[in-house]
Amino acid sequence: MNILVTGGAGYIGSHTVVELMNAGYHPIIVDDLSNAHYRAVDRIGKITGKAPAFYMANCTCKEQLRHVFSQHKIDAVIHFAAFKAVGESVKKPLEYYRNNLDSTLTLLEVMEKFGCKKLVFSSSATVYGPNNPYPYKEEMPAIQSTSPYGWTKVMIERILTDYCTAHPDFCAVLLRYFNPIGAHESGLLGDDPNGIPNNLMPYIGRVAAGKLEKLTIFGGDYDTPDGTCQRDYLHVVDLAVGHLKALEYAQAHEGVEAINLGTGNGISVLELVTAFEKANGIKLPYVIGPRRDGDLPAFWADAAKAKELLDWEAVYSVEDMCRSAWKFAKNASV
Ligand code: UD1
Repeated sequence: MNILVTGGAGYIGSHTVVELMNAGYHPIIVDDLSNAHYRAVDRIGKITGKAPAFYMANCTCKEQLRHVFSQHKIDAVIHFAAFKAVGESVKKPLEYYRNNLDSTLTLLEVMEKFGCKKLVFSSSATVYGPNNPYPYKEEMPAIQSTSPYGWTKVMIERILTDYCTAHPDFCAVLLRYFNPIGAHESGLLGDDPNGIPNNLMPYIGRVAAGKLEKLTIFGGDYDTPDGTCQRDYLHVVDLAVGHLKALEYAQAHEGVEAINLGTGNGISVLELVTAFEKANGIKLPYVIGPRRDGDLPAFWADAAKAKELLDWEAVYSVEDMCRSAWKFAKNASV
């Protein structure tokens, strides 16, 4: 089966392409490399022993997408390609809305033209917004977010829901990720953002590698057991496998389905720092700083629906996540 993977050179996309290839699928990567590196595509080839098909193309460009669809009979699409930096989205809202919405609309139009009716969409736990109690369940209202980035996910979920109403034979699986961290066991693929990382684990990796001086923990006075924020961190390889399960589900179903991908456990920033130190035998310099605007004190997934509908659950431990993240970070380029 040919699976188009938009954003397939990125952090989650590249791990998903490896799992697809290992399972016998034929992924076709479309990526404009605006926030990814071609070397990830090379490394997928090293890990799997086979080079994936790759097109350097931008999903907002209909001509480029049409070209890819004309070259391969695409059976399903996994759509990762998007701008994803929360802080940047606050400063550049138009760029975020234009890029993330346009790419999805263009992709849907081209899929329709070529009769492709199966889509797995990269959504986020951010769609639960600031007002739902945790653990988050899929039936809770997911209609609000805390940043333009997050709002693009809310809006795209809406677009896909409306599209499925108009096209009852279409299937869209909305995967709501919690906090993916960790890296491929080979140490060849991982989270390697351009510039100074915004997310916690790549920041920790650069501090551990001596490329940044110390970690600032954003806030130590939250109403949580140790005063630092709690999140549901899951291994990126578990997340990648979740996409394969969602793909199987989409093959057999029609309509729209939102599904959380998380472990169901919350751990704090301090607990993650301690786990990283213990797993890797490293002392991590850190200070407790002020809170970061927009951060919620705590949230994690109710992971029951993924188990029930996809027969998926996270299997890797926090220690696995920390060890693999460090294996990647110590060899990373930046
Ligand atoms: C955010 C977004 C989420 C998005 C994800 C990946 C929201 C509410 N969440 O998650 O939608 O999918 O990024 O881009 O918009 N931290 C520090 N020091 C640091 C960095 C982070 O203490 O240098 C803390 C944060 O305060 C937070 C935790 O680490 O408590 C995780 O932060 P981060 O990795 O940025 O992810 P989220 O903000 O949870």
